[in-house]
Amino acid sequence: MADLRLSFLDFEMENPWCLASAPPTATGELMASAFDKGWAAAIMKTVGPVEEPIINVAPRIHTMKKWNREIAMQNIELITDRRLSVWLDELKILRKRYPKKMIIGSIMAPGHDMDAWAKLVEEMNKTKVNAIELNLGCPHGMPERDMGAVCSQDPLIISKIVKTAKSVSKVPIMTKLTPNVTNIKMMATAAKNAGSDAITVINTVNGIIGIDIYKKEPHLSVNGYTAIGGVSGNGMKPIGLKCVAECKQATDLPISGCGGISSWSEGVEYLLMGAGQLQVCTEVMIRGFKIIDGMNKGLEKYMAEMGITKASDLVGDLYKRVTSFETLLKKSSSEKVQVNEETCTGCNICVVACDDSGYDALKLKSLPDSNRTGGTRKVAEVIYDSCTGCNLCVAVCPVPNCMSLYDSKLPFPYELADNYTGNTLV
Ligand SMILES: Cc1cc2nc3c(=O)[nH]c(=O)nc-3n(C[C@H](O)[C@H](O)[C@H](O)COP(=O)(O)O)c2cc1C
Repeated sequence: MADLRLSFLDFEMENPWCLASAPPTATGELMASAFDKGWAAAIMKTVGPVEEPIINVAPRIHTMKKWNREIAMQNIELITDRRLSVWLDELKILRKRYPKKMIIGSIMAPGHDMDAWAKLVEEMNKTKVNAIELNLGCPHGMPERDMGAVCSQDPLIISKIVKTAKSVSKVPIMTKLTPNVTNIKMMATAAKNAGSDAITVINTVNGIIGIDIYKKEPHLSVNGYTAIGGVSGNGMKPIGLKCVAECKQATDLPISGCGGISSWSEGVEYLLMGAGQLQVCTEVMIRGFKIIDGMNKGLEKYMAEMGITKASDLVGDLYKRVTSFETLLKKSSSEKVQVNEETCTGCNICVVACDDSGYDALKLKSLPDSNRTGGTRKVAEVIYDSCTGCNLCVAVCPVPNCMSLYDSKLPFPYELADNYTGNTLV
């Protein structure tokens, strides 16, 4: 039986999954419902200083779909519009009801107002949350008021805020950074040097989700106008993984990984990269708290297949293998593609991609079809001298185990993939 427990900031979570600060954690009641359904941790929707009124616009959410499946979401929602005093009461109740769940506070104040930051941390102290996340990442609305992303786009401001929070807080501080910077390592380092106990990456990515070409206006349109919003969801995973790698490289702090996790396997990717906790927002907004069942089951099945008994063993150090291009040049071998003629369907997708991307290293050829006497079938054939091993054909091939790269400099006869029936290579 797989042990899904994972220790993050000295708290033993029953599984790696944490609800990110967002609409699914908009009230204590919602957080309770998520805990009841199996989520191990939840971060309250960010609360700001009482003096800062929060007024949302409508509409404020839109998605981008491919094949009827959401691949990204843009929002222009602000932080919670509920009173701090209401939140404090709810957090205290949650604490009593759920001693085994990791309850995380989330706060935001202006980058110039350290008193406001200190006050919010003091209030959070009273609730006995397990950690406090400093939301330095909201990219819309709040930056106009010197809050959110502007605070993690300047290492000096990060430093001031984290130092202030650390000087008051009774629990670990997680610093949530924006990915909308040129050099996130610099920002993570500032957080570490100021005493942050962990880093959360990522908050949403600046973007505009799309245009309604018939109405000739943005999809996320407030009476014809839009604002640059925060893009989240599955398509953001590569940016999240990159930020986990860079923050881990720069600081070696525990990382709460967030951004585009829509399934158990993407969570595993984050863990292997080096994250120690997994936050999910958009996928829950689309499909609900119950996705936790499939996430846990998938994780258990994967662990059984891989012979891993403890989820904590999945936390890896692939961030150490994210290296410079120069290092890759030294490690690169002489790759060529090979086609498995047993599985190739002759669909021609790889040939078109290769031709029209200028590599010209594939064509179709006819083979006798063992299913039809006298008949033939088409399969892809590699033009050996033209193949540069770019991997485009492997990436676009729709058939599993059909195309793969091999090191053509290995001594011949090279042991080719199973079922390979093809041509002589020299
Ligand atoms: C509608 C919406 C509201 C959000 N509100 C907050 C917030 O109040 N505080 C915060 O730290 N992050 C907020 N986020 C960002 C998420 O916590 C998370 O960092 C981001 O969505 C990336 O994760 P995902 O791809 O799993 O959605 C919000 C995201 C969305 C989509």
